[in-house]
Amino acid sequence: MTTHNSERVGERLGGCDASTLAAEFGTPLLAIDEVWLRARMQRFRAAFEREGRDACVTYAGKALLIAAIARIANEEGLYVDVCSLGELETALRGGVPAERCIVHGCYKTRDELAAAVHHGVRHVVIDHESEIAALADLARDASRRVDVLLRLNPSIAARTHELIQTAAPASKFGFSLADTQAIDAVRATLARKELRLSGIHCHLGSQIHELQAYADAIDVMISFSEIAHRQTGVRFEIVDVGGGLAVGDADGRAEPSPEAWADALFAALDRRLAGSPLGRPRLYVEPGRSLVAAAGTTLYRIGVRKRLPDGRDALIVDGGMSDNPRPALYGARYGVSIVGRESDAPTGSFTIFGRHCETDRLFPDVELPDPREGEFLAVADTGAYTYAMASNYNRFVRPAVILASSGSARVIARRESLDRVLDLDVAEDA
Ligand SMILES: Cc1ncc(COP(=O)(O)O)c(C=O)c1O
Repeated sequence: MTTHNSERVGERLGGCDASTLAAEFGTPLLAIDEVWLRARMQRFRAAFEREGRDACVTYAGKALLIAAIARIANEEGLYVDVCSLGELETALRGGVPAERCIVHGCYKTRDELAAAVHHGVRHVVIDHESEIAALADLARDASRRVDVLLRLNPSIAARTHELIQTAAPASKFGFSLADTQAIDAVRATLARKELRLSGIHCHLGSQIHELQAYADAIDVMISFSEIAHRQTGVRFEIVDVGGGLAVGDADGRAEPSPEAWADALFAALDRRLAGSPLGRPRLYVEPGRSLVAAAGTTLYRIGVRKRLPDGRDALIVDGGMSDNPRPALYGARYGVSIVGRESDAPTGSFTIFGRHCETDRLFPDVELPDPREGEFLAVADTGAYTYAMASNYNRFVRPAVILASSGSARVIARRESLDRVLDLDVAEDA
């Protein structure tokens, strides 16, 4: 399959010139278009809050969490969902009030639970049985009451890559509905006065195109709400259906709009609640990728052009799986173009590799106009799960991240220094 998606590349650089950014900040570089990101967040809120709908859009920080991005999400009126101490601290440093943070995680450490209690976060999403007592004990010791949601596994295998399904029957997340785990968790939570059970949560996975999967999730969540109400008297105020909305990829598959997502969810709620003894819960969603992916562009320098023994033309760029592991993990595809020559006619197909000691094939079969060593490549839609998943493989340093807006740019995450990486080693005698 051939990838050529130059139209979009370069558009989302906050009015800055890509080669100037590459020269000024170095490569690899992740540029986030601030105006685009804010507009996207506003669009999600408008879709979910339209006509008095009672909903709450939470930014799933795992997609890209840097203090400046957390600040933007908060300024745009979103809650921020975090799933580690590091993400919580980052959100707080970005000025997000703790009461606008939601804490997730399938195995939260004691320190993470204690920090959630200490800071007074909005909700802790409890994922498994022993967490109920652990959290309640910490809350009791701190003389606090913690607001919680219970994460359920609705056993819906959303049609997406197996590795990014998170609510299939074999998923590790949440309380199973296949036996009594979930209802037992409701009882155990209600039994602890230090916990306030506000609602239930699920997250189906990522890159979900079929909105029907969310309607199915609503059905399961409301059915469980009815069972829990019958058996324990509890009324869930919140139903959180997670994130996972797909973004368009270089394969040309269209992405569902935020408006279509909101409409599908509210229609499913209306349908399911008709004739139900339950009142309407507040709907939470937690998009990550669909908010931030298309705000990001990665710039690389082409360091090598060569012909492979199989006759293919290859390029090697100055980054790779350490700044974007998604092609290696899930075969993710991206739109790629040569900076400054976006509208030149392609002369052939090129496979673009990173410079790691692995196959590190980043972008296969990209049509490009006779690329030259020393030119810059722009890769579109790289805002989500790239920098957030960056590593030091081969002792590379993590790239810098800049925020671009109205023709100027500022660094929001410095390029990692090699000293910082080397400093982690305990010095050996020479
Ligand atoms: C609990 C939870 N909520 C939301 C998300 C965000 O998903 P996405 O970025 O695909 O929208 C994730 C992603 O892993 C998640 O685990």
